[in-house]
Amino acid sequence: MPATLHLDATLPADIARAAALLREGRLVAFATETVYGLGASALSAAAVAAIFTAKQRPAWDPLIVHIASLAQLSTVATIPAALAARIHSLTHAFWPGPLTLLLPRSAAIPHALTAGRELVAVRIPSHPAAHALLEAANLPIAAPSANLFGHTSPTTAAHVLADLNGRIDAILDAGPATVGLESTVLDPTQTPMVLYRPGAITAAQLTTATGVAVQIFKPMATEKPESLPSPGVGLRHYAPRARLILVDGTEAYDPQHALLHELRMESHAGNRVGALLPNGWAVLPDTHTYLWGNWENPEQLAHNLFAGIRTLDDAGVDVIVAPLPPPGGLYDAIRDRLQKAARPA
Ligand code: TXA
Ligand code: MG
Repeated sequence: MPATLHLDATLPADIARAAALLREGRLVAFATETVYGLGASALSAAAVAAIFTAKQRPAWDPLIVHIASLAQLSTVATIPAALAARIHSLTHAFWPGPLTLLLPRSAAIPHALTAGRELVAVRIPSHPAAHALLEAANLPIAAPSANLFGHTSPTTAAHVLADLNGRIDAILDAGPATVGLESTVLDPTQTPMVLYRPGAITAAQLTTATGVAVQIFKPMATEKPESLPSPGVGLRHYAPRARLILVDGTEAYDPQHALLHELRMESHAGNRVGALLPNGWAVLPDTHTYLWGNWENPEQLAHNLFAGIRTLDDAGVDVIVAPLPPPGGLYDAIRDRLQKAARPA
């Protein structure tokens, strides 16, 4: 494959070019509000197969389909009458936005896309560049995060190219993703509804919108990912090459002090050390420091998390030390990604 074409989402001609490539069955990475996605036609088995190949993604991990508007939903999914009111509440409250719904698949969806499952993952992204591309392509677009399988999800075009340059046809660059964490994944066909991946839309918000309880799925470390109801949730994910050490940042003791202590121990042990450091926290000399954002501002921490992990990893440190925020709201999604990245391989 030739070098990846770098397209600019502010130029209408580049949006049209990216859309034309998608219509030809080619691979185009694009910005969404969560992370960058690796897109291809969701209606073409060959295009879907090309996504798995480019990402080196195992065939058992299904993809998310992105649509431009509710009018396209019936192309990819069939909503049982008994669930119509619940689905309407969810789409009305959270679409376009960072919520992925697992819904009964339509016959138009290739089996490989859902890894043979009966439910298909769908969302309408809110990012204007993603929306413009989906409208212009006039196709449902399958798009997992645009990273090699198991790597940290990309929040900038540079992150995408670091993993996939030369493996995909084009990238539509729209600057950094806004949220910075992947979408919430919810199965609304069960009661209680099951939340597989925490994200910017929280369980409490989902219950408020629908009046239906949400159960948070907790995978066992020993389970085989392919046998999990949502395979991606069971993985050691978002993983840096460096070892990631989490310092519990609950109120019980002084998290700044605990972080410094951990950094000193690792440094004395002869390791090159990096810190994912909240703004204003004490810096240890001779450590690589990535200023993570305001500890009290979960939106900022979410936005910068993956860039911070990648930056420290690229600096060649052996160990990254990060404080683990306390639970609640968006902090739960940040905790989930940190805990998955810290899990031993
Ligand atoms: O924010 C996002 O969701 C981004 C952007 C590009 O939209 N996409 C993304 O895709 O994170 P991906 O493939 O990296 O993560 C999709 C997750 C995986 O954990 C996968 O196992 C799960 O959703 N999933 C997809 N289809 C499913 C299905 N039919 N049943 C159960 N889980 C599914
Ligand atoms: Mg992913």
